[in-house]
Amino acid sequence: MNTPPSCPFHAAAADPAPQVHASGIWPPGPPAGLTGWSLLRRMSRDLLGTLAAWQRRHGDVVHLRIWPEHQVVVSDPQLVRELLAGQHDALIRWERGVQVFSQVHGNSVLIAEGAAWRAQRQALQPGFSQKSVQAFVPTIAAATERALAQWPAQAADWPLESAFAALTMDVIMRRMFSAEIGDDARTAEEAVHVAGVVANAEMYWPASWPDWMPWKGAKRRALRALNDLVDRHLQARLDLPRPAWPEDLLTRLLDLHRGDPTVWTLRAVRDECMTAFLAGHETTAATLTWWAWCMAAHPSAQDTARQEVVAVLGGRAPTADDLPALRYLQQTLQETQRLYPAVPVLMGRRATRSLALGGWQLPARCLFMVPLHLMHHDPRWFPEPEAFRPERFADGAPAFPRGAFMPFGTGPRVCLGQHLALTEMTVIAAMLLQGFALSASAGMAPPRPVLNVTLRPEQPLRLALGPPSEFR
Ligand code: HEM
Repeated sequence: MNTPPSCPFHAAAADPAPQVHASGIWPPGPPAGLTGWSLLRRMSRDLLGTLAAWQRRHGDVVHLRIWPEHQVVVSDPQLVRELLAGQHDALIRWERGVQVFSQVHGNSVLIAEGAAWRAQRQALQPGFSQKSVQAFVPTIAAATERALAQWPAQAADWPLESAFAALTMDVIMRRMFSAEIGDDARTAEEAVHVAGVVANAEMYWPASWPDWMPWKGAKRRALRALNDLVDRHLQARLDLPRPAWPEDLLTRLLDLHRGDPTVWTLRAVRDECMTAFLAGHETTAATLTWWAWCMAAHPSAQDTARQEVVAVLGGRAPTADDLPALRYLQQTLQETQRLYPAVPVLMGRRATRSLALGGWQLPARCLFMVPLHLMHHDPRWFPEPEAFRPERFADGAPAFPRGAFMPFGTGPRVCLGQHLALTEMTVIAAMLLQGFALSASAGMAPPRPVLNVTLRPEQPLRLALGPPSEFR
């Protein structure tokens, strides 16, 4: 990550101490009227556009009075790092967000807090370390090779988004269960979509209607399909004798269960599997989808990336040792994540005690919102922020502040799967460029990003496929 150089002699002059405000004084923000609920309505219509407008008007720390809450939107990179890393101990996740997600994720590492979360995170971490991900590269390459072999050599209108969903599901299934997704891909994709739309809508309600309400049939069916998928694999493993269990995430979790079945109940094992399945494919598929669009919309960047892939790999599949040499390809993925962060706004945080941030004294129970999308599109750090420029991430490119680009979050709750995601996306992108050229059909408008838990194109993305020689 690029960091601006700082002069030890002039640090004070270059970085004046922020003004300290007395407690009880809130940062500036939009007028809230009597309840502030109109602000909520504006946000529910267009969250990213609304937050951008408020930042332009009120700055990097914006106060929203939405009765009964006080919310503070923080979009200054240094303050975000100070909040999420430096003041992590003073924060829990926004209760309503946790409640909505827990309907699917149970009490997994994504949901838990405090000592329970720390123990879960520690237990899972080794399965997602850089080293263990490297050993997994041949499996990712095998899954990719198999998927790409089913793609037509030429197509005018190939449903890329579905294809990436199936492939990334297959990769995470192999990681968790040593099994392929196979025919479950379509049902699972539909279920994930429905669960996401419902969760996004429920986030804005103070409470959820019970799931047995007649109008909640689609949600019931979606949750049943996801639970069935995970339970089937869990049961199949339990039916095997221990010596026949393969080395994978499920075996790791079941060994924890065998060691201490009161802490690691079968329910807890199932919850972690569900989170790994959902968090482990949706964000990766969304990022690859946006990357494919960026490649189609910028043929010269696609060409440069392909030339690099051909120079490093020729026609063979990548190994872990090859990945560092695919620098430009990785820059195209980074620039895609800057423009289209799969998680554009982090789950809200609530202060469990009063805390000081950027000169403001903020009381206990204050809510914080961190809009990564806004930070990634800030012209102070990324000139012409809407332009696709992989060179921003080249060694020696102009520096931007630490924290201005953080697609995986930061601090102790940073994404557990970031090494897996980066490795997987690089392998898939390299192999795709070896076999195919991506292009947009003539007159195709850029897809409109919409927030549906992850940032997605409003309409499922379809692109033209052709032989790669077309561009050389
Ligand atoms: C491009 C792909 C991905 C992106 C952009 C992404 C992004 C994120 C972000 C921003 C967070 C932090 C949320 C917060 O602070 O509120 C997060 C957390 C998490 N991610 Fe990812 N993620 C990706 C892939 C993955 C993969 C492949 C896995 C594998 C299982 C995964 C598992 C998790 C888990 C378990 C958490 C919760 C960690 C905790 O709370 O301790 N993610 N992810």
